[in-house]
Amino acid sequence: TNRTFTMIKPDAVADGHSGAIIQQIESAGYKIVAIKKVLLTKEQAGQFYAIHKERPFFESLCNYMTSNVIIPMVLEKGNAVQDFRTFIGSTNPELAEAGTIRKQFAKSMEANAIHGSDSDENAEIEGKFFFSEKELEQRL
Ligand code: GTP
Ligand code: MG
Repeated sequence: TNRTFTMIKPDAVADGHSGAIIQQIESAGYKIVAIKKVLLTKEQAGQFYAIHKERPFFESLCNYMTSNVIIPMVLEKGNAVQDFRTFIGSTNPELAEAGTIRKQFAKSMEANAIHGSDSDENAEIEGKFFFSEKELEQRL
């Protein structure tokens, strides 16, 4: 068993899809280790997406990510990181596979409903960005 980090992004929260998305996550076998609702500052959004700082969409991405609250979560399941990326689908919703979260709820390449960590290392870094050691201690 291992962990991944996810967040339901502002568009999906604003559209009232949080419940449906969480239900599908749990039905797919992920346990919720930690969960909260947060409104990021511009600075925090920039820090979280620092790796994309030089990309042309960085400014727009930071504005989008602070446009409404997000719901960050740490999830636990065997092969969590890789399975969760498959579960949410391609970054570009037009390419997302049928049944994936992004196919169902993403509106565009940017407003794509959900995030999923791309490695075990990043899952840990991203989880710690939002949650304390104590919050991550949860026994399931
Ligand atoms: P995350 O799970 O959110 O990290 O998505 P990803 O790993 O599928 O994509 P990536 O890390 O490459 O990009 C991070 C986020 O930036 C994406 O989820 C989008 O919200 C946004 N993004 C990526 N590419 C583009 C783009 O070409 N244009 C715009 N406007 N936004 C983009
Ligand atoms: Mg990414």
